[in-house]
Amino acid sequence: MARYVVGPASELPPSSRRIVNVDGREIGVFNVNGLYYALRNLCPHQSAPLCLGEVTGLAVSDEPGEIQWTREGEILRCPWHGWEFDILSGRTVFKSRARVKTYDVRVEKEALERLIEGVETYPVTVEDEVVILEY
Ligand code: FES
Repeated sequence: MARYVVGPASELPPSSRRIVNVDGREIGVFNVNGLYYALRNLCPHQSAPLCLGEVTGLAVSDEPGEIQWTREGEILRCPWHGWEFDILSGRTVFKSRARVKTYDVRVEKEALERLIEGVETYPVTVEDEVVILEY
């Protein structure tokens, strides 16, 4: 299984997200209450950039007139048509077979330096407000 360094955990605090491009595939990495989850940035409904959607919670009801707000920060709402997905599992919150692809995410101490060591890098300079990639 290939590995991709998203970045220092300190740069991805709780309730934040980062979308990365891994081999041409956009993946959203979410910090939900200190745990990390990753979803493909592609809604299974009509291919919207799902990970740009609002992160919210879930309203549940056991009986008429009783509504409870739960799972704050665990639900991702698609920006195009509002389908909602469980960030933890990639499944829709409503009964459906649709599901967004999920990926494993882990936090490793000292992994950043170790993984960066073998990565080919290119010098980048900024000239007159233009970012230049030298390769
Ligand atoms: S494209 Fe996501 S709900 Fe339609």
